[in-house]
Amino acid sequence: MSNRKMVLGREVCLIIFLVFTTIRSEENLALSKAASQSSDIGNGRWPASGAVDGCEETDVFSDCCSHTDIRVSKTAWWRVDLGQISTIDTIRIVYRDNFQQRLAGYQLYVSNTTTLPTDGVLCYEDTSSTNSSVQLVVTHQCPYVGRYVTVYNYRNNPKRYNWYSDDALLELCEVQVFGCPVGMYGNGDCNQVCPASCYGRNCNSKTGSCIYCIQGKYGNTCENDCSTNCKDSLCSNESGFCFECIHGKFGNACDQVCSVSCKEGFCAKDTGYCHGCVDGKFGNSCGQQCSVNCKDRLCAKYTGYCNNECIIGKHGENCDQDCSVNCRDRCTRDNATCIECITGKHGETCDKDCPMNCENNVCVRTTGLCNGCIAGRYGVTCSLTCPVTCKDFICNQQTGHCLDCYPGKYGVVCGADCPDKCTDNICSKDNGRCLTTGSRNTEQSSADSNMIIIAVLATVCGLQLAALITTVIYHLRYRQKRKNSSNTGTDIKEEQSVPDTGYTSISPRQEETSHVYEMVVT
Ligand SMILES: *[C@@H]1O[C@H](CO)[C@@H](O)[C@H](O)[C@H]1NC(C)=O
Repeated sequence: MSNRKMVLGREVCLIIFLVFTTIRSEENLALSKAASQSSDIGNGRWPASGAVDGCEETDVFSDCCSHTDIRVSKTAWWRVDLGQISTIDTIRIVYRDNFQQRLAGYQLYVSNTTTLPTDGVLCYEDTSSTNSSVQLVVTHQCPYVGRYVTVYNYRNNPKRYNWYSDDALLELCEVQVFGCPVGMYGNGDCNQVCPASCYGRNCNSKTGSCIYCIQGKYGNTCENDCSTNCKDSLCSNESGFCFECIHGKFGNACDQVCSVSCKEGFCAKDTGYCHGCVDGKFGNSCGQQCSVNCKDRLCAKYTGYCNNECIIGKHGENCDQDCSVNCRDRCTRDNATCIECITGKHGETCDKDCPMNCENNVCVRTTGLCNGCIAGRYGVTCSLTCPVTCKDFICNQQTGHCLDCYPGKYGVVCGADCPDKCTDNICSKDNGRCLTTGSRNTEQSSADSNMIIIAVLATVCGLQLAALITTVIYHLRYRQKRKNSSNTGTDIKEEQSVPDTGYTSISPRQEETSHVYEMVVT
């Protein structure tokens, strides 16, 4: 090939290149830049620069392609230094005709360093599965910022596909890198400056739109400010929607105010729903009032059910039902059981009357038994009559035994007479033994004994009459009550009279020692 022919070939290439660049909107940043490759062949006939000379001839014997050594190794690379950090858009490759098996498997890297051929970011890798699908003239999107572009190839053992060449080598006839120096853009000449709000002053080399915005900006050229309601002034580059809102705001642009009823003013960015409600409110946006019947007006955020207890006098899931009027204050929330009853009542809901002879009309809420009896009565429901012989008509509430006897009498029901020989006719209530005057301690002990005896006789007569009346009344009531209880089904069983209720009935031992003497006035 003559020198002349070669020069002519180069001129033809240059013309093609000029035509080509006028229809591109960006510069070919690689044209005539410094290029290097992993090895040379043919004494410089196919240098790395052959791929940046503007000649796209695909016959290597036209002498405007690059070519690495065929004998060398399992890796090969070719690289161009763009001279400065640049915003790359696309990379176009023109490879030697009919050598798909050699190009197959190649990779494209963009980097700022050249320590390894694979430095930087991988923007393309060929994985074509058939020889014919490897494109020899092809353009790849490679939207990265960097200074070096490297074409790299390798051959593993085994190879990815059988049809791959055994050795790695590159025969690039042209490599074009389209883009602009970083910070610039423009139609063919990269003479426009990227907008100042572009992050890193870096913009799309064709359109000039920012790739990222600096913090607090959004829009094509990052000309808009993110809302001041965006947390940390961060918003989407495209839409301007906040990623998060500042406290108390919601909505895409965080321009809506969370409900004042939201706990601590927090609500969800998308819905405005509160995370929690202030006391006394419920609902998604906490717009509803908890029932006045909830204690402290506290209720569940979603259901509105009272959180804890009801106010006094109410029960039910929503505390909207009244406790029984017979409850004293409260009843349980779930089953309306009274905690305490009003006087005279008992039962779960205090609907039953206490036995009539309970002291102060008070009985145990759960059992209905009396705490104490009125005078003259004994038994758990105070339905039994104390022996009339008991002093002051008072007997033990459990046993019915007299607590004390009148002078001259002794025994559990005071049915026996003290022995005659006892001074002043006074004897021990328990065993009938005479008590010495010295041991007497009643108030009347030193008074006129005649008067005492008369008084005792009068009292005994009176008590006998009273007992008769009481017994009659008792039996009448007892019948009445039996009738009632069989009607109402009350759970209190009528108690059985103890056998020694009668005032003449005494234990055998007492009978032995007893003397039925009329008292003698001395
Ligand atoms: C090269 O450096 C520029 C500026 O520092 C940076 O933006 C870019 O991401 C770097 N490129 C690579 C591939 O590391």
